[in-house]
Amino acid sequence: MKIGVISADIASESRVALTPDAVKKLRKLGFEVVIQSGAGQAAYYADALYQAAGADIASSSAEVIAQSQIITTIHDLPAEVAEHLSAGQIVVGMLDPYRNTQLDTYAAKGATAFAMELLPRTLSRAQNMDVLSSQANLAGYKAVLLAANEYSRPFPMFMTSAGTVKPAKVVILGVGVAGLQAIATAKRLGAVVEASDLRPAAKEQVESLGGKWLDVPMSDDEAQKAKATGGYAWTPSEQYIKDQAAVVDKALSNADIVITTAQIPGRNAPRLVHAATLAKMKAGSVLIDMAAGTGGNVEGSVPNETITTESGVRIVGAANIPSMLAAQSSDLYANNLVNFITTLIAPAGDDAAANDLSLNLDMEDEIQGALAVTHDNQVRLAKR
Ligand code: NAI
Repeated sequence: MKIGVISADIASESRVALTPDAVKKLRKLGFEVVIQSGAGQAAYYADALYQAAGADIASSSAEVIAQSQIITTIHDLPAEVAEHLSAGQIVVGMLDPYRNTQLDTYAAKGATAFAMELLPRTLSRAQNMDVLSSQANLAGYKAVLLAANEYSRPFPMFMTSAGTVKPAKVVILGVGVAGLQAIATAKRLGAVVEASDLRPAAKEQVESLGGKWLDVPMSDDEAQKAKATGGYAWTPSEQYIKDQAAVVDKALSNADIVITTAQIPGRNAPRLVHAATLAKMKAGSVLIDMAAGTGGNVEGSVPNETITTESGVRIVGAANIPSMLAAQSSDLYANNLVNFITTLIAPAGDDAAANDLSLNLDMEDEIQGALAVTHDNQVRLAKR
């Protein structure tokens, strides 16, 4: 059975879906692999490394599709590539399911498309397939380094003969996987850190990393709602949003660095920092908006651009931080995909030849069933 790798082919993406190490693992399991020439180049994985790992090189995406049973990608396939799909083929990638406009094409072609973002997060056997966590973890780390680079003062406290340097005050809004890694990284660099999230469970995690919890008052009703969502974000009331804005306003008036990570799967990111608050921030302070690609947590942020406000506050629209760590994020992403792909294969019978792999697609399986957005000529995505 052959697995293909399609190049992202866009300037804003340096990652690749499978790495040479992943190819070696798949070869050991009995798969063949074909990669579009140059697909790993921006992550420092040259074609020669893939060949040495046992992959074939194809000169075009059409050639990869023509040869492969399973097609791996970082993002949704470009429309002209998806056109080449045929019945029974499988696509695995971060397909941005709720904003994807070509699921009908996948279904019409008879392809089974798996959107890795839909993985059930709390299922322990699925944790090694969790692309959102593997990418967000690296992104949280790098966001702090980006901020440190943009900031015109150091992070740690210094006592020098010329005077004492105060530590930077860092505020993190949204403390999921990325936010927790950002807290840990900022603390390691010597900053003073405050953080907030609408999940009350995050308080203990923030404090265990040495951060200060910024508390937003919550009604009993909301506290119940927060519990009932099983650890995921809940829809806040108008009162909560107002109270949160006041807490954010106060914290940011004293902050040097702000990192926002709040996202809501399938919807636009919540607006957490408004223009009135930005106007109160110190000149030279820096905001890294990690939700810039899905609408932005910070008013005025622009994906992949750095904006300087009239009062000298810099807003970095960090739409795709994992791509900046392309080699490492590709390694982890590829491991996630290998772990998932191996679950699609039927256990070999006693008399099966070593390379005799067959697919075992099962929409009743809680992982496959959750990830499959098209199967059997149907779009299966539940509305949100
Ligand atoms: P995310 O990327 O969807 O959002 C980042 C953070 O922003 C979340 O903590 C979310 O609660 C917060 N947020 C969303 N809207 C907000 C608002 N209006 N105001 C303030 N904060 C807001 O989150 P991520 O990192 O994907 O994690 C989502 C959840 O999944 C978390 O509860 C996390 O702990 C959990 N998780 C569980 C895993 C497991 O049990 N194996 C693995 C990974 C994540």
